[in-house]
Amino acid sequence: MSKVIPLARGAKVVVMTGAGISAESGIRTFRDGNGLWEEHRVEDVASPEGWERDPALVWRFYSDRRAQALTVQPNPAHRALAALEAHLGDDLYLATQNVDPLHEAAGSKRVVHVHGELMKSRCEDESCTTGPFDDTNLYFGELPRCRCGARVRPHIVWFGEVPFEMHAVKRRVQACDWFVTVGSSGVVYPAAGLVREVTYRQSMGEAVRSVYVGLEAPANADAFNEVVIGKAGEVLPGLFAPV
Ligand code: APR
Repeated sequence: MSKVIPLARGAKVVVMTGAGISAESGIRTFRDGNGLWEEHRVEDVASPEGWERDPALVWRFYSDRRAQALTVQPNPAHRALAALEAHLGDDLYLATQNVDPLHEAAGSKRVVHVHGELMKSRCEDESCTTGPFDDTNLYFGELPRCRCGARVRPHIVWFGEVPFEMHAVKRRVQACDWFVTVGSSGVVYPAAGLVREVTYRQSMGEAVRSVYVGLEAPANADAFNEVVIGKAGEVLPGLFAPV
């Protein structure tokens, strides 16, 4: 029988998704064979230093990814999480390392993008009042400038930068009944370390459980109570069972 998480009324669930959840929609992951990091050097396209060295290259990299993300559709895994939100409301906290908009496209209303959003850009001058803005169809060519004169940069958390909302995510993990990670290789911190909060709480006698769902065991597999091997789009639709 496949894995089922029984959800009693009032159960609090935190789900952290990674690139694997969007793989069946046709978005490339980072570290699988044919992953994005096979073709591009992380330090060239996903670091503040790379941006300083060659902003046009970085801009093109994200523009290409944005253009591709606009052509794909959410899959049953994204839809299962949207349905779970419709059922649990605020008791589901959905955080994602993904920058694509597929959770929202599936109908999820509350999505926390800890590594930023592909469809947003922002002024790189932090003192500028232009906050992150939707740029879905705006820029695919020239590197744009903000009205203040500074460069506009992708609203993406690069290596060496601080992920968004991690304190809030951690607080929710510290208060949840179930922590579920989907399709993440477990090598990028701090996201990969969240499951340790569950381990700690268990050591204090708390009744919280952690589950990983993905094609293969992640690097932090030992920290999860259960590792379910399978495609997100096949496992998630049957994973949560309200009781
Ligand atoms: N269903 C479930 N899991 C899958 C599927 C699938 N259909 N296809 C691939 N996977 C799994 C892979 O086995 C792998 O373990 O998804 C995981 C993807 O791992 P990564 O490519 O490393 O992606 P992720 O963990 O999300 O990367 C974290 O690294 O470069 C950064 O900022 C980027 O947010 C990203 C972060």
